Amino acid sequence: MKKKQRPWGERFFRRFFYKYYSQNLLYELQVRARNEAVDYIQENMSDAMIWETQIDIMRHGISSSDINGLFLEFGVATGKSINLISSLVSKNVEVFGFDTFQGLPQNWSGHLAGKGQFAQKKIPKTNKNVTLIVGLFEDVLPKFILNNDKDASFIHIDCDLYASTKTILDNLDKKIKPGTVILFDEYFNYPSWKKHEFKAWQEFCLNKKITYRYLGYTSVGGTVLLQVEKRSVIK
Ligand SMILES: C[S@@+](CC[C@H](N)C(=O)[O-])C[C@H]1O[C@@H](n2cnc3c(N)ncnc32)[C@H](O)[C@@H]1O
Repeated sequence: MKKKQRPWGERFFRRFFYKYYSQNLLYELQVRARNEAVDYIQENMSDAMIWETQIDIMRHGISSSDINGLFLEFGVATGKSINLISSLVSKNVEVFGFDTFQGLPQNWSGHLAGKGQFAQKKIPKTNKNVTLIVGLFEDVLPKFILNNDKDASFIHIDCDLYASTKTILDNLDKKIKPGTVILFDEYFNYPSWKKHEFKAWQEFCLNKKITYRYLGYTSVGGTVLLQVEKRSVIK
C-alpha cells in the first residue's frame, strides 16, 4: 500500500526545523556567544559608542590617536582593512602591516577556521603609505621594535588567535602607553571568544597593570575599540 505523504507544510517544517535548526549546534553556540557578548557590554562597556560600519569605527579610532606615533596592523591578508586605515590617516603617515600571507599559523580553536585559512595567492596591492612586513609576528617584531623608537598610536589586531595576539602585545609591550588606541577585530561574539584576542588582552592588562576605556564596538560582529588610560611605571 502506498505510504500517505504528510502535508507539504509539515514536511517543510520538519525538514527546516529538525535538519537546519533544532540540531544545529553552531547556531545555538552562536546565540549563546551573542548573549554573553551582550552581558559583557552591559557590565563593562556602557559608555562605549555603537557603530554600524567598520569604516565608522576605524575613523573614530584613528581620529582619537596621536598622529605622531606608530600606526600598525596585525593580520593584513587581503589588504582590505589596511587600505582603509591608510586612506583615513594623512598621506604622510606610514602604516605598517604585518602578516605571513600564509593564513592562520594554527587552528582557531572553537571556530570553523583552521590552519592556513585566509592564505593569499599573492601579496595584496596596498596604498603608497603602507609598508608590509612579511613573516611570523614572533620572527619580525623584535627587529621592527629595535628600529622604531616611536610609541604605538593605533593598533589594529586582526589575527584572531590567542597565541598571535599575545606575541604582538608581549613584543610591543612598552610601546603601549596611555593614549594608545587598539581596534580588535574579533574581540567577542563568537563561540570561543573568551579564549582568543579577548583573553590575550585581559591577561596583558592584568600583568602590566594597564587600565583602559572602551570607546566603541560595531553592532554586528566582534569589532571593539579601546584606549589605554594608565599603566604602571614602565621599567
Ligand atoms: C582574518 S585575517 C586578516 C584579514 C585582513 N585584516 C583583511 O582585511 O583581509 C588574519 C590574518 O592573520 C595572519 N596571522 C595570524 N597569526 C599570525 C602570526 N603569528 N604571524 C603572522 N601572521 C599571522 C594570517 O596570516 C591571516 O592573514
